[in-house]
Amino acid sequence: MRQQILSLAAAAAVAVAGVAQAEEIRIETAKTVIILEVNGERDVGWIYWGAKADEPAQKWWRGPLLSCFGGWAEVDPALRVTHADGTLTTALKFERCERQALDANRTRTTLTLKDPLYPLTVQVAFTAYAKENVVTQQVTLTHQEPGDIVVHAMASAAPTFPAGDWWLTSFQNRFLDNWPNEMHLYEEPLNPGTKRIANYRSTRSAYFENPAVLISEGRAQEEAGKVYGLLVAWTGNWEIDLAMDTGRGLRAKAGMAALGADYKLPPNTPYVSPEAILAHSAEGKGQLSRNLHDYARNYVLVDGDKPNPILLNSWEGVYFTFDEAKIKEMIRDAAEMGLELFVLDDGWFGNGEYARDAANAGLGDWQVNAKKLPCGLQGLADYAKGLGIRFGLWIEPEMVNPRSNLAKAHPEWVVKSGRRDIPQGRNQWLLDLTNPAVQDFVFETFDRILTEAPGISYIKWDANRTVANVGSAYLPADRQANFWYDYARGLYAVYARIREKYPHLQMQVCASGGGRVDYGALAYHNEFWTSDNTSAIRRIFIQWGTTHLYPAKAMAAHFSRSGVGNPLDAPFPASFRLHVALSGRFGFELQPAHLTEQERAIAEEGVRAAKDYIRDIVQFGDLYRLHSPYLRDGYAALSYVTKDKTQALVFAYSLDTAYDKGPLALTLAGLDPAKRYRVDEVLVPPARKPLALSGKVLTGAALMRDGLSLPITKLYDSCLLRLRAQ
Ligand code: GLA
Repeated sequence: MRQQILSLAAAAAVAVAGVAQAEEIRIETAKTVIILEVNGERDVGWIYWGAKADEPAQKWWRGPLLSCFGGWAEVDPALRVTHADGTLTTALKFERCERQALDANRTRTTLTLKDPLYPLTVQVAFTAYAKENVVTQQVTLTHQEPGDIVVHAMASAAPTFPAGDWWLTSFQNRFLDNWPNEMHLYEEPLNPGTKRIANYRSTRSAYFENPAVLISEGRAQEEAGKVYGLLVAWTGNWEIDLAMDTGRGLRAKAGMAALGADYKLPPNTPYVSPEAILAHSAEGKGQLSRNLHDYARNYVLVDGDKPNPILLNSWEGVYFTFDEAKIKEMIRDAAEMGLELFVLDDGWFGNGEYARDAANAGLGDWQVNAKKLPCGLQGLADYAKGLGIRFGLWIEPEMVNPRSNLAKAHPEWVVKSGRRDIPQGRNQWLLDLTNPAVQDFVFETFDRILTEAPGISYIKWDANRTVANVGSAYLPADRQANFWYDYARGLYAVYARIREKYPHLQMQVCASGGGRVDYGALAYHNEFWTSDNTSAIRRIFIQWGTTHLYPAKAMAAHFSRSGVGNPLDAPFPASFRLHVALSGRFGFELQPAHLTEQERAIAEEGVRAAKDYIRDIVQFGDLYRLHSPYLRDGYAALSYVTKDKTQALVFAYSLDTAYDKGPLALTLAGLDPAKRYRVDEVLVPPARKPLALSGKVLTGAALMRDGLSLPITKLYDSCLLRLRAQ
């Protein structure tokens, strides 16, 4: 066995030590380990994933690292290909394992597997992030068969779990009154059979279901219990399957979706899966979230270590109805309110009959509307700069309205299924990013806008429709099913070109709200638009779900005036809306001129506090979810604690009145038990006096054991507490 485990010559590559019979390969982070085994037959098995401290003495083969179609084929395989000669079956045998230290914190372990009968190679690369306790897994397939092979399915990861009382947490859009509620938390026990969470809509990878699950022993708890996170970093079609057998063992499978995606792969062309993200915590889902937040800030997000600006976005304030005077007035107000950036949303482009005055025209014609904005984009950027704030812009460059010059000039660029009609979504069609000419167009459009108006320092990139009637005029007839993969890769290629030229431009990913909140897209962005639903009460639920997987730093949360116009929503007090927005990446989504004097004063006080201390604590602190709104007992509360535990913020909200609702009894978490904290209520709602506890000094131990009693019983009362170690 030892001879089969070769160390390649890479400087940092290390041979994995072997034993005669079975070879163990360990992928370790500070607290967790994934154990694989190479047996005497050179099959690679999944043995254990969990805390190092819980590593079992008796280890069992729990299934193949990557099950293939063939042999007894008793499971839905992770890999299924048809070989060039028509053979349907595949076998993968271990060739070698290489280990490479990428830096002091990250180690890559790459296993090479080969089919003994075909020139087909599969590499499975694990990257372990030691401090963050996160591992990524990625599969790359290449072959040298005499013709194309067809890849029917290729998962990124397929971990297996021993028999247990496994529960699933998923994050799905719960539409209410036609308004989206992304990342709504669904918790359920798993039973024998297969449960699938999936997206088959391509461009909006995360709108209906987020590409992520938590698997826990029992219902996932915040600060206790074993929890596994399995995420797919992919802005396209994906599937996560959880197959429980009758003995209650569990086999997960996560990666690109197979539906309609039989990929024709020529020889010597790598077919690369998205990364699956595997994170384990033996201390509850709270710790799992904090680990993912660190991973996102340290390794995924663009400029994850820099604070994100406090901005005003124009969308809910004026929608399509504006002119230069109105935008300048908004910029002036934003500057006076102390904001740092103004973002001009949809409506600024298209001319003549294709002016973008509504959603039914103009997409694709990315020239500034000379009638609405005679001073141009640079004129607006200069105006903003003169007032001391930055200027940003919305675009949706993958899309085209049938009513546009672009649609007339390039009908062959539109995603279309042969002679079938092209369904419209929000009056628009999708451009075919499998086509390099379309990729060039999108990149060049982006580049031209920024070259003509170099004052733009922030872009909101939107994508408001999905694929319907899939098909490409660019792809050959026998490669139409390559669309899904090639589209996502085409999108990433454009993102990568943009990032190469504009590495520090701030970018927000948006797809009708949180439709692209996935770790694949986030790697090219600084932040995401969490939801078009800005109703404060809905946001408490949406943001609660979102923070399970993604950091508050990137989670745009805007103080809005009207919520979403949902008639069921009460007019929330300004302080309630402010507190909800401050708990994420704080900003505004309104027309400042519509604010009452009192609202504006409250908002401005919030902006000052955000700049002074709130932003740093929220964007770079550790999140503790303290009291779930999903308990539906009339309260919700969360906190952020700085890494050095000297400062914290506690956000608490009173939701609908419960029958027997007393004050909120809230025990805190994550503090230093030995430190003495001064507790101050800040940004106090004008409707009441500051809480009596404000100004008290308590030890971390007392705050975490006895907690606080918060008499915020009135509907939509809320409080924000600032804790400072003395
Ligand atoms: C989508 C976005 C909104 C806004 C509009 C503009 O719905 O999610 O934030 O940008 O498009 O048309």
